[in-house]
Amino acid sequence: MGTVGKFQPGQIRDGIAECLSRHGMDGASIGEIEAHMETAFGEAVASSSIRSYLQLNTPGKFERLGRGRYRIADAGLVMTDPAPDGEVELKGKPVYRHGKTRLFRADSLEWLREQPEHSVHGVVTDPPYGLVEYTPTELAKLRAGRGGTWRIPPSFDGHQRAPLPRFTTLSSAELDQLERFFRQFGEILMPVLVPGAHVMVAANPLVSHLVSYALDAAGFERRGEVVRLVTTMRGGDRPKNAHEEFPDVSVMPRSNWEPWLLFRKPVEGTVAENLRKWKTGGLRRISDERPFGDVIASSPTNVKERTIANHPSLKPQAFMRQVVRAILPLGEGIVLDPFAGSGSTLAAAEAVGYQSVGVELDPTYAELASKSIPKLAALPDRVGLVHVDPVGAEASDAVPVEG
Ligand SMILES: C[S@@+](CC[C@H](N)C(=O)[O-])C[C@H]1O[C@@H](n2cnc3c(N)ncnc32)[C@H](O)[C@@H]1O
Repeated sequence: MGTVGKFQPGQIRDGIAECLSRHGMDGASIGEIEAHMETAFGEAVASSSIRSYLQLNTPGKFERLGRGRYRIADAGLVMTDPAPDGEVELKGKPVYRHGKTRLFRADSLEWLREQPEHSVHGVVTDPPYGLVEYTPTELAKLRAGRGGTWRIPPSFDGHQRAPLPRFTTLSSAELDQLERFFRQFGEILMPVLVPGAHVMVAANPLVSHLVSYALDAAGFERRGEVVRLVTTMRGGDRPKNAHEEFPDVSVMPRSNWEPWLLFRKPVEGTVAENLRKWKTGGLRRISDERPFGDVIASSPTNVKERTIANHPSLKPQAFMRQVVRAILPLGEGIVLDPFAGSGSTLAAAEAVGYQSVGVELDPTYAELASKSIPKLAALPDRVGLVHVDPVGAEASDAVPVEG
């Protein structure tokens, strides 16, 4: 067995990168990399050196596909379109483009730090909440279908449920960390936004107060909450291991709504002055007669969309198109999703004709987004952008309910 000591600086790195580039999307095993290195250098490289180099650079440069199998990050991304004329310049190289959509693969906090002042006009995002649920370790457990933060809710009707992260297991130290994360996120986001830009953040009733407090502390104005009326499989369970003893008890209410927190970067002067100068400060009306409302009837994401984009937190187009449309009051500017996942915000922006930018850290989800954005964006608009007003008066979401 050879050692690292016999190689020039950078030789092992270049050898691994070359081997993985040749193997493309399917990646290579440690054994295949070892064989490649031996052929390339005429000398064996210790598999421990290969492993430690790969581990140190995952997920930045490499993506772990499974036990001992890796590929170059972004190997599966397809750049479909060239940059359109008049596109606002942003730092970094997008890994994917489609129509007016750009996707960057990066840590969004690092990415935001690099971006020019006043380059984004609205944010619609569904961030990670468990802090740990989107780490490579937890994602590997989710993809392997066992252990970790992700759990499959109980099935009462024979339908297989999608995995949900366990938010209630967050300790108070983790909740503090969550608040610090959102405070930092808010502070880094603030300069990148134009004055009057709205920020809409998906939350859940257990942590929304922390996010709200953190964004308020970062200097945003709280502008209310949009209630997504949706019945999920969260809550409603009887006490664990004591179902029969306490048949009339549920530990938490069955969740029938999802809060989407609404914030605004302070406007310059009056809203009218801000609208003239920055094109932001208000929310786009549904029509002459109907302002954007803060209760939107929705359904769980339907099977058709989940088949297109198999992300555990996929949000439905019927809902996303309504909130994304509202975020740019004059329909001008750029919408950002710093935690893009499989791209439901970006697809919604594409569908309503807005420029958008997404940032996603995980290479597998970035690749998924590159495939799903055009398909989600092309889905017919069956919702007609109608809101419920007042609560429960009308079920506007025509997308069929699929548990
Ligand atoms: C709740 S999911 C969003 C899913 C999205 N709503 C959709 O419909 O596909 C949050 C996403 O943020 C990504 N993420 C987590 N931390 C990140 C970070 N620091 N920078 C960029 N993306 C991150 C995760 O990989 C995950 O895909």
